Amino acid sequence: MTLKAVVTGCGSYLPPDVMTNHDLSAIVETSDEWIRERTGIRERHIAGDDQRTSDLGVEAAKKALAAAGRSPADVDLIIVATTTPDLTFPSTAAIIQAKLGAPAATAFDIQAVCTGFVYAVGTAQKFLASGQHKCALVIGAETFSRILDWSDRTTCVLFGDGAGAFIIEAMDEGDANGRGIMASFLRCDGRMADLLYVDGGVSATQTTGHVRMQGNKVFREAIERISAAMLAVAEEAKVDPRSIDWFVPHQANERIIHGVVKKLDLRPDQVISTIARHGNTSAASIPLAFCEGVEDGRIKRGDLVMLEGMGGGLTWGAALLRV
Ligand code: UT7
Repeated sequence: MTLKAVVTGCGSYLPPDVMTNHDLSAIVETSDEWIRERTGIRERHIAGDDQRTSDLGVEAAKKALAAAGRSPADVDLIIVATTTPDLTFPSTAAIIQAKLGAPAATAFDIQAVCTGFVYAVGTAQKFLASGQHKCALVIGAETFSRILDWSDRTTCVLFGDGAGAFIIEAMDEGDANGRGIMASFLRCDGRMADLLYVDGGVSATQTTGHVRMQGNKVFREAIERISAAMLAVAEEAKVDPRSIDWFVPHQANERIIHGVVKKLDLRPDQVISTIARHGNTSAASIPLAFCEGVEDGRIKRGDLVMLEGMGGGLTWGAALLRV
């Protein structure tokens, strides 16, 4: 019996506080015009002082469970992609498991920065295909604002907070009727770690540290690597990348998204873009955009959807699924 990993529900959560580009121009030497022209970002959401990454993740998870018609007791696998965990340990997945009340679940975090959600989806796919787990809750959740250096205009204008979640269930291939994750491609090149990193950590400094990025060097790597990952999953799934219904990219920079669209001969109207309102929410950006597409009726049952991410590591990857 071949098992498929089918996305049966999604949910997302954005903290209510919004920070605009104008707000930022009062903090650092920047302008709405520069941020919009160089990135496409207009505003981002910022978690309240009383909100932790797990709180954002729980809200997204509840909505995903409701959309899939599942209860926490049905979940036997929780994977949380985050770079901004509540604590060094236990994992944010363990904290979310307790808050949701999902005692039967294996729970762990994945750290692949902005590629984290693609890594988590690819990992869940393999767990579900093995037959050992049946119902996965896969979350991308970040309070990235907590690791920003608010005096560094080259990074603090880029990121925001939020969470998104998928329920992914194992289904017999016959019942899945063509639905499911068709292929995933996950890569890392640690030799480029110094292009995007946090300058603190448990073992190195015993501090949390702040995001440091050589943005233009990351930018130069992005389009090529993302496109190659997308072509790899399309080839594995034996589909023409131009035949996808929706492209749900990691939302780091509108110019990167446009570059990938151009390189792969996609159409701009195939893209689900939330960058203007969310900024870069790292591991949360893909499920946030995906859920927006589902909730506003663009992404429908049976659609072919391409996900991609790239971030610190460097890590990059893509996943192709039929909803
Ligand atoms: O999600 C994880 C992966 N991350 C990414 O994919 C990010 C990839 N990189 C990028 O998106 C872009 O490189 C940035 C948006 C980060 C920067 O855009 P850029 O066009 O590459 O700008 P730059 O870093 O080459 O800087 C150009 C100029 C510099 O001034 P000088 O040296 O030319 O005088 C910067 O100091 O823009 C200046 N600058 C700013 N000016 C106003 C940098 N940040 C700002 C700012 N406001 N916030």
